[in-house]
Amino acid sequence: MDVSESLEAAINQQIGHEFSASHSYLSMASYFERIAYDGFAAWMHLQSGEERVHAMKFYNYLLDRGGVVKLPSIEAPRYEYNSPLEVFEASLQQEQEVSKSIYHLYKLASDEGDYATVSFLKWFIDEQVEEEKTVGDMIDKLKRAQDNPEAILLLDRFASERKSGEEE
Ligand code: FEO
Repeated sequence: MDVSESLEAAINQQIGHEFSASHSYLSMASYFERIAYDGFAAWMHLQSGEERVHAMKFYNYLLDRGGVVKLPSIEAPRYEYNSPLEVFEASLQQEQEVSKSIYHLYKLASDEGDYATVSFLKWFIDEQVEEEKTVGDMIDKLKRAQDNPEAILLLDRFASERKSGEEE
């Protein structure tokens, strides 16, 4: 059974959200590289790559279900921030918005009785819980570090040790 037109449109939008998140994380990485926080930059590069993988999962799924991929345009991301904390807060907000749009997709698929899409989306729902938690933990640590440069450098080193949460 092919995917419905409304789900096709919503999945195409989701592909746009994931690429937009990838673009935004790349821009965050460039901010950190400019101010020599290499660990935070590595974290953002890794996250940018994960978002591209997410986009491609939707892309492949849509094709597998007989849909047409219509890539939406992506807005230019923000590139200026005032602190590492501000970047991670923007990251959390972005993740929360992505979670909302996945819940919306899930509801749409469920209302349409498209159980293949419901099943496909479960991985993303779990992934969002993990991503929001990882970013939220870093925000807590940065708040504790406040303006202490040594504590922030330690967190930068800690960020460089983050491994991909991606599991195929
Ligand atoms: Fe693919 Fe972080 O949402």
